[in-house]
Amino acid sequence: MAGADGPEGTDLGKRTVRDLDLTSQSRVLARVDFNVPLEDGEVTDDARIRAALPTIELLLEGGARLVLCSHLGRPKDREPETSLAPVSRRLAELIDAPVTQAEAVVGDEVRGQAEALSAGEVLVLENTRWEPGETENDPALAKELASLGEVFVNDAFGAAHRAHASSAGVAEHLPSVAGLLLEREVVTLRGIIEAPERPLVVVLGGAKVSDKVALIDRFLDAADSILIGGAMCFAFFRAQGIETGDSLVEEDGIELARKALEKAEGDGTARLLLPLDLVAGDKFAADAQCRQIDGTSVPDGWMGLDVGPRTAAAYADEVCGAGTVFWNGPMGAFELEPFAAGTRAVAEAVAAAPGTTVVGGGDSAAALASFGLGEEVTHLSTGGGAALELLEGKSLPGVEVLDDA
Ligand code: 3PG
Repeated sequence: MAGADGPEGTDLGKRTVRDLDLTSQSRVLARVDFNVPLEDGEVTDDARIRAALPTIELLLEGGARLVLCSHLGRPKDREPETSLAPVSRRLAELIDAPVTQAEAVVGDEVRGQAEALSAGEVLVLENTRWEPGETENDPALAKELASLGEVFVNDAFGAAHRAHASSAGVAEHLPSVAGLLLEREVVTLRGIIEAPERPLVVVLGGAKVSDKVALIDRFLDAADSILIGGAMCFAFFRAQGIETGDSLVEEDGIELARKALEKAEGDGTARLLLPLDLVAGDKFAADAQCRQIDGTSVPDGWMGLDVGPRTAAAYADEVCGAGTVFWNGPMGAFELEPFAAGTRAVAEAVAAAPGTTVVGGGDSAAALASFGLGEEVTHLSTGGGAALELLEGKSLPGVEVLDDA
């Protein structure tokens, strides 16, 4: 989808890293989203690090002296298990160059390390959330961070919905441009709403209607069909007076589901499709007893844990005929093998679909990866909350603060 000059036929409206004159602005502070899973001090999924490589490599090839910063997890303080050190080690392997890990986010020692960098060298700051001012967008912290570079590059799409010191505040003090990942994410996701190849088919799963209600509302206006799966379908069924047995039902979501169903009755809105059949278990476990329910009424003692085969086939058909597909959220408890078939069928259909296919959200990405299909879609978003907020029509502070093109 991305051409040599960025995504085709689209425009971010902001300056990007390609606009930099690196000979005169060579110390670059780049915000990346290295919020990756760790286990025993090792990175277990480096997708977000790899996604930042095009920007990092472009900067290094241009001769930049590069200072990278990111948050990791949600530490309240300097929690050593949220250090960026394992990420720096993985980055060094990926770029095959030495990477220095700073021991703090800001301070005299860090500034000295940043100033001592030579062209092509990389310094990674410690977890920005170790500084209490980060999430408060403290102007003093933003200014200190800004003193580490001569230009700011924001490539942290996953954190672009946060108005934090390292993602937004810092841009008030430096010339500020978008990185290649951030550009590609925003342009691709905006393109789904603004100029999709039709039909636009949206597949939404997950547990809670309340998490997705703004998205459903927007896509009722913008899409051709919305296919609902995951436990959130039970709020819709309850709104329709259907028995849900022991299934997980978001009680506060029932009214939201009722409103979405009402809106979907109106003219000019997307078709809102609910499951036709289900797979139920007697408990949420891989060794649960399972039964197929041909219909959607779940008896007491049973919980719906996946969509059934008729639904999976119908949803796969919709996906295959789409010009554009957006998928967010699993169809069932795919981490338990007896309840993985619905999500697998949707993942396989999305992977095989001839149209543009965009997948957002950590659970859908994990599902695709678990079925070995991570590389088979047009765009796998690195942003969870950021992707959803962008598609809901909210503006992202980390994008808004960048210099206009
Ligand atoms: C994410 O994982 O979605 C981003 O890194 C943002 O993390 P946060 O929700 O902790 O701000």
